[in-house]
Amino acid sequence: MSRKRVAIIGASGLVGQRFCQLLSNHPFFDEPDLYAWQRSDSRKLEEILRVPSNTISDSLLEKRLSILDARRVISEKYDAIFSAIPTSTDNNIELQLQKAGNRIFTNSATNRMLESVPIVVPEINSDHMEMFRDQCGYIIANGNCSTIGLAIPLKPLIPLGPDHIEVTTMQALSGAGYPGVPSLDAVSNIVPFIESEEEKIQREMPKVFGTLDGKKITPRNLDLGITCTRIPVREGHTESVTVRFSGNIEDEDISGLLSGFRAYPQAKNLPSAPAQPIIVTGSDYRPQPELDLWNGTPERARGMAVTVGRIRKNGNYLRFVTLSHNTIRGAAGASVLNAEIAHSKGLL
Ligand SMILES: NC(=O)c1ccc[n+]([C@@H]2O[C@H](COP(=O)([O-])OP(=O)(O)OC[C@H]3O[C@@H](n4cnc5c(N)ncnc54)[C@H](OP(=O)(O)O)[C@@H]3O)[C@@H](O)[C@H]2O)c1
Repeated sequence: MSRKRVAIIGASGLVGQRFCQLLSNHPFFDEPDLYAWQRSDSRKLEEILRVPSNTISDSLLEKRLSILDARRVISEKYDAIFSAIPTSTDNNIELQLQKAGNRIFTNSATNRMLESVPIVVPEINSDHMEMFRDQCGYIIANGNCSTIGLAIPLKPLIPLGPDHIEVTTMQALSGAGYPGVPSLDAVSNIVPFIESEEEKIQREMPKVFGTLDGKKITPRNLDLGITCTRIPVREGHTESVTVRFSGNIEDEDISGLLSGFRAYPQAKNLPSAPAQPIIVTGSDYRPQPELDLWNGTPERARGMAVTVGRIRKNGNYLRFVTLSHNTIRGAAGASVLNAEIAHSKGLL
């Protein structure tokens, strides 16, 4: 397969720097060009680094960031653009780039709910990318980081017929970007509300699990109850999940269903696909962000596996705890894997 020219917009932020890490020495993509905003304009990546320098190639560390200017980005004619810019309703730069024929893989919530934008979780609905088979420019969105962490372990449970899903998230501080939650709100504390977060999960889950008909996605009916909280953990979103099924699930091998789950990225052996997307831990004391955040093999897929533990069945109820890396699996890693899928499907 031919190598592709790529760029990162919002490259200086927490997600943008994860992109830099994941696109270092990538087998499909050339070293990315880097764009950000005033705070980082003309600075070398190494001067503003917030991820370990040994995870990024020396030549990328030396690269200077440019201010994001749509006309300049369009003139470069990139094959793919990775976006980690803030959600905004006034300056819709992603739409400008898409209309000029660019293919965008985004973490921003700005365009996620547009009919023309699928929310693709790599192991769940990569078939939704087919809506762009004959289209030049497009936007493929990630779900919100907590949506992704919840949707992956739910996917193999769908055939059992879930009729209500209740989730309480315990979300890391890095989920709020840099500089994020003020330290006086965060240290030794739990904040039981994250603005707009519950609504995002509520809207996005039915779209991710929807079906594509031509160019239209019909959302799946999912009954959800959601509570989002912020906890003093640097990285890793933990979610406590209760699923009620239409029938008794006592005889189901839930651990086997979760740990045996594989999908398109695994079948195609894509570079950022974790060999086992859901790792089930037998210990009552796991998953923990300190111990399980970086699960996933091979090396390029570290942080891409979701870890599930505390699996308990009771009649038609299932309870479990799931952990996912919010800036890797919940953001940059998901976009990179989506772009690898698009490449493998001939959509780049
Ligand atoms: N953090 C997470 O866990 C997570 C997970 C999933 C999705 N997301 C989403 O991913 C996106 C990036 O999040 P983040 O945590 O990396 O945020 P961040 O740390 O605040 O970084 C924001 C980036 O956007 C640039 N920027 C700021 N204002 C801009 C503007 N008006 N136009 C274009 N670029 C601008 C910044 O450049 P300067 O440095 O020059 O200001 C920086 O590169 C957001 O949409 C967020 O909601 C985040």
